[in-house]
Amino acid sequence: MTGKGEDLKKVFIKTYGCQMNVYDSERMSDVLARAGYEPAAAVEAADLVLVNTCHIREKAAEKVYSELGRLRELKEERAASGREMLLGVTGCVAQAEGSEIARRARGVDLVVGPQSYHRLPELIATAARTGAAVVETEFDVARKFGVLDRVHGRSGQGRRDRRVSAFLTVQEGCDKFCTFCVVPYTRGAEVSRPAAAIVAEARRLAEDGVRELTLLGQNVNAWHDGRAGLGSLLFQLAEIPGVERLRYTTSHPRDMSDDLIAAHRDLDALMPYLHLPVQSGSDRVLAAMNRRHTRHEYLTLIERVRRARPDIALAGDFIVGFPGESDADFADTLSLVDEAGYMAAFTFKYSPRPGTPAATADDQVAEPVKDERLYRLQEKIDARAAAFLHSRVGLTVDVLFERAGRRAGQIVGRAPWLMPVHVEAPPSLIGEIAPVALTGVAGNSLFGVLARSTARRGTSRGDQAAIVEVAP
Ligand code: 5AD
Ligand code: SF4
Repeated sequence: MTGKGEDLKKVFIKTYGCQMNVYDSERMSDVLARAGYEPAAAVEAADLVLVNTCHIREKAAEKVYSELGRLRELKEERAASGREMLLGVTGCVAQAEGSEIARRARGVDLVVGPQSYHRLPELIATAARTGAAVVETEFDVARKFGVLDRVHGRSGQGRRDRRVSAFLTVQEGCDKFCTFCVVPYTRGAEVSRPAAAIVAEARRLAEDGVRELTLLGQNVNAWHDGRAGLGSLLFQLAEIPGVERLRYTTSHPRDMSDDLIAAHRDLDALMPYLHLPVQSGSDRVLAAMNRRHTRHEYLTLIERVRRARPDIALAGDFIVGFPGESDADFADTLSLVDEAGYMAAFTFKYSPRPGTPAATADDQVAEPVKDERLYRLQEKIDARAAAFLHSRVGLTVDVLFERAGRRAGQIVGRAPWLMPVHVEAPPSLIGEIAPVALTGVAGNSLFGVLARSTARRGTSRGDQAAIVEVAP
């Protein structure tokens, strides 16, 4: 393609941003494997470097340009020593800025938006042949899903490492148009992937040893196949032999349908964890953000979910310093954190994004005010997170072991509520679910010892049943 021929070329993909980008990077790796690229161990060894980017906040986008500056130097060194390196930008910055990237960051050969990853081999070939920057930012999600499905179906390669937990994209894009958010512009309209393709991928993953699936989508709970919603998809996936745990992220309160809440009630494999961003606790700000729900509606929804699944842990996202946010609005956010009872949350300072309605509002909040609010909110959330962890000590819960720990003799898995659990146990347990008596907290993790338990293995109902005092 770009050079001598027989020997495999090497690609290095550097991923920024959300879990969808992590998933997309793996898919790009699959597509490129079929075009003769194998993964490079380090960026210095790569013939092709792809930077998979995030545009959600200004800082994320700026990081891309400093990274591209460094990579251009590497590219020039490589060219001087007679080995060419191609440099590509993918992801949401590619989609949002398109040819502007090639202008601003010299040395970039390729700019490819998220809807065109299936075309990477031909785009790379064109860039190599013409020596000019190739920019591809068309929207054609349905076709992308179709081609990527076939890539999986035929090769089954590209999964180099045995994983216990995997992401699976079921939905892309967003039609909600929150006034702060670039996602509807960078990822396009909501598109659901067909159930049959999702189930087929889930089966392949389970056959490869994956025990936990996290369904991904910018608005994952908006997934539907015309008749049924995410709840029914979760039931189908839980039937697959080997699939023991299910999660999904990220959701919008408006799409939290009855069948999804029923899945939380009835489906053992669905973990008791819900990431349901609210962004603000103030009705005024929620309206200005175009969230299309009130504080009261959100709290009522959480109550319904808790009735269905009392042990569910709630996580969220918050933005402080949205244009026009007053001290009173911010106080509403602080009080919502306690009222809703979050276990954890991601907190962000409002960052004006080009092209979004809020970016041009004339009542922007001063940076020091944002800093102070972020600090106060984070402090409250940290305290809640620590209290949640400490409240788990003394319980016995099922842990899905994922990897060796940093300390010899230790392995690390995840509790039903997603946080890591460190246990002294043999590596043969990796890939298995085992009951663990939780004994302590360190940072954001739990510690425990293997326990004998009457809990049914692999079911979160089991986890619930297993939330009992450890026998002395
Ligand atoms: N500024 C700050 N935070 C943002 N988010 C999305 N857009 C912005 C923005 N312009 C946050 C939201 C969202 C998360 C993924 O990122 O909280 O839920
Ligand atoms: Fe952005 Fe709102 Fe869509 Fe989430 S729901 S991706 S915050 S526009």
